[in-house]
Amino acid sequence: MKNSFGQHLLDIDHLSRQQLNSLLEQSVQIADDPGVFANRRNGKVLINLFLEPSTRTRISFEIAAKRLGMHVINFQPESSSVVKGEALVDTFHTLQAMQPDVIVIRHAGDGVLASLAAVAEAGVHVINAGEGRSQHPTQALLDAVTLMRARPDLSQGDLSGLTVTIAGDIRHSRVARSSVAMFKKLGVARIRLAGPAELLPSDEIAGVDFFTNLDEAVTGADVVMMLRIQRERFGRLAVPDEKAYFETWGLTPQRLGLASPGCLVLHPGPVNRGIEIASEVADGPQSLIRQQVTNGVYTRMAVLLTLTG
Ligand code: CP
Repeated sequence: MKNSFGQHLLDIDHLSRQQLNSLLEQSVQIADDPGVFANRRNGKVLINLFLEPSTRTRISFEIAAKRLGMHVINFQPESSSVVKGEALVDTFHTLQAMQPDVIVIRHAGDGVLASLAAVAEAGVHVINAGEGRSQHPTQALLDAVTLMRARPDLSQGDLSGLTVTIAGDIRHSRVARSSVAMFKKLGVARIRLAGPAELLPSDEIAGVDFFTNLDEAVTGADVVMMLRIQRERFGRLAVPDEKAYFETWGLTPQRLGLASPGCLVLHPGPVNRGIEIASEVADGPQSLIRQQVTNGVYTRMAVLLTLTG
């Protein structure tokens, strides 16, 4: 069943500015008074179909759905017929034949979500919970919600004046791709991507500056988002030495001191302390890492309410 928002949430790119703002505003409303939204989707069914590990995204979708009164089934790949060789598309058809309302999917393959959404029945909503290197739309949304809640001057979703630095393993990061799409859509004029040359995208991105020096990338930034090295996606590319990486690419208190006063620090998690970020920064007063997790529940409640409305 389609609504004005569309049947599925697969990426940020397909959202209009108005739809994006509407989701952000509703997430903040829910965060301000979650009880008002309790049980608004009583009896609906959500399946978490995660074929890559997750702590934050899977559990926050489960909590979000349960707060809305939904039933949640967590698919367990290792004890499912996946181990008997069932193809993903057949698993998907099998699950949707049981008539759930929402299937939340995480998968390592780029393009997989669109191909499954293309065969979804009219009453089944597909939500991307992280796809390969491509997109992680609810992570981008919750990051914007976290900034809006931390800085009341941004509460209307006007992030255009910010200088945003995203640093680390950009090449393998779906979070970076979703975040860039979202920040561009929200009119952010200064977006910086920083990382070792081999971990930056190979092609230019319009409206985005690339840096191969973290000090330069952090200088004057209002928001710094640090990303972990995604070892699981390196293939034949050499994984950097952790100690050397931290010296060049770790966000330390000294480096954060180059940013604008009060610069906010984001990290989608999981955090690797002493590799891409120092503990003093991750646990420090400028860090919003735990608020991101909290806001993830409210943002996912907003997504579920909007899609199934
Ligand atoms: N940010 C994020 O996607 O974390 P998980 O892998 O724990 O879900």
